[in-house]
Amino acid sequence: MAAKATRDNRTKFILDERDLPTRWYNIQADLKTPAPPVLHPGTGQPIGPQDLAPLFPMELIKQEVSQERWIEIPDEVRDVLRLWRPSPLYRARRLEKALGTNAHIYYKYEGVSPAGSHKPNTAIAQAYYNKKEKVTRIATETGAGQWGSALAMACAFFGLQCKVYMVKVSYQQKPYRRIMMETWGAQVVASPSPDTQAGKKVLEQDANSPGSLGIAISEAVEDAATRDDTKYSLGSVLNHVLMHQTIIGQETKKQLEKADDEADIVIGCAGGGSNFAGLSFPYAADKLTGRNRKLRIIAVEPSACPSLTKGTYAYDFGDTVGLTPLVKMHTLGHGFVPAPLHAGGLRYHGMAPLVCKLYDEKVIEAVAVPQIATFQAAVQFARTEGIIPAPESAHAIRIAIDEALRSKKEGKRKTIVFNLSGHGHFDLGAYEAHLTGKLQDYEYPAEKIAEALRGVPQIKG
Ligand SMILES: Cc1ncc(COP(=O)(O)O)c(C=O)c1O
Repeated sequence: MAAKATRDNRTKFILDERDLPTRWYNIQADLKTPAPPVLHPGTGQPIGPQDLAPLFPMELIKQEVSQERWIEIPDEVRDVLRLWRPSPLYRARRLEKALGTNAHIYYKYEGVSPAGSHKPNTAIAQAYYNKKEKVTRIATETGAGQWGSALAMACAFFGLQCKVYMVKVSYQQKPYRRIMMETWGAQVVASPSPDTQAGKKVLEQDANSPGSLGIAISEAVEDAATRDDTKYSLGSVLNHVLMHQTIIGQETKKQLEKADDEADIVIGCAGGGSNFAGLSFPYAADKLTGRNRKLRIIAVEPSACPSLTKGTYAYDFGDTVGLTPLVKMHTLGHGFVPAPLHAGGLRYHGMAPLVCKLYDEKVIEAVAVPQIATFQAAVQFARTEGIIPAPESAHAIRIAIDEALRSKKEGKRKTIVFNLSGHGHFDLGAYEAHLTGKLQDYEYPAEKIAEALRGVPQIKG
């Protein structure tokens, strides 16, 4: 029937601005047991709001520990999000055809934000609450530059100063990301930098350190803790950051309804865990509450930095130097400096505690993929769907393709949804390396990880 055929050919599922979610979903309300408490590094005791007050505005601290299932999104935040949200959901028909699969593949495209990724979803909220509590300057770290760009833009919207410690390897690989941040008014330095004690300490040990997210976090935390006018902002890992991203999954559910389809497999790449959580937590809710126990939810990480699949589930520092509180997470050891792979946003030694808890309880799965196979998937995606993905997002594409091929082999038709968390327009150096055969896979760094794990504090919990 012609009408049915037209309907079945739909490629984009677009929501109206009025469908922009009005609430964030807080998965803490649906956990069977509460998430392990965050501990004070000095006393080993659970920390209270006042311990975090030098670093974060109080409203975000409240959200961090809230047990409310839904938290209202302020109108001022929705007004900014409206610039690019709701983001589109695509059916990857051309990729499906190239794979010859019976699977339905959908991707939620977060690269439509002005900064090019999902990161502004939380940057806007964080800048808003800082402004509301009269903070005038924010310090942060950035890996690939996506988070720094997002926060630089958010600070421009709310009239805040912004200092970004950018992991040195990315600073060198991606000068245009730096210029983007500077265009939005941020000050950007390569980390480790001589601007902080933490940076100086690392440089003394290794003047050529490529940097890591852990080191850059140490610098930004120190910056905020030592200045009255400054708070710290983190682009992932923390509960409130993951919660701000849940608008992604809420929108996706509505869009899949429009497509008359239902997800069997939900996939996201995971660095600190925020885009993975953003898409998957509204789905994990269905597993936790028994509405859909069969759903598979897969986090994808790089095999050179496999915190979920190879890390220890233990209390560790969120940064390299040991300035942050202790959080229970899958960690490769806070001293672990990952190889300079191109997915800079996935080079983090730990993982969001809420993602780790769901992994520990087998609500979600995790898999690690090597760099070259990831870029092969990225190129296949670009040549069929057009969008050149961020190397981070390409990790999700790799597994979406693998699952679609498995679906074909087993003859079971699956609906696969993944988060295309950003575009790769500033990652063309990495694509060039891949296209000219210069890209390398990094071996699983067993010895380096074993050494870093010896530095994890011995805390029971
Ligand atoms: C495009 C993109 N996707 C994913 C990530 C990973 O971060 P997270 O795990 O917090 O989503 C990053 C981090 O910078 C990123 O830039």
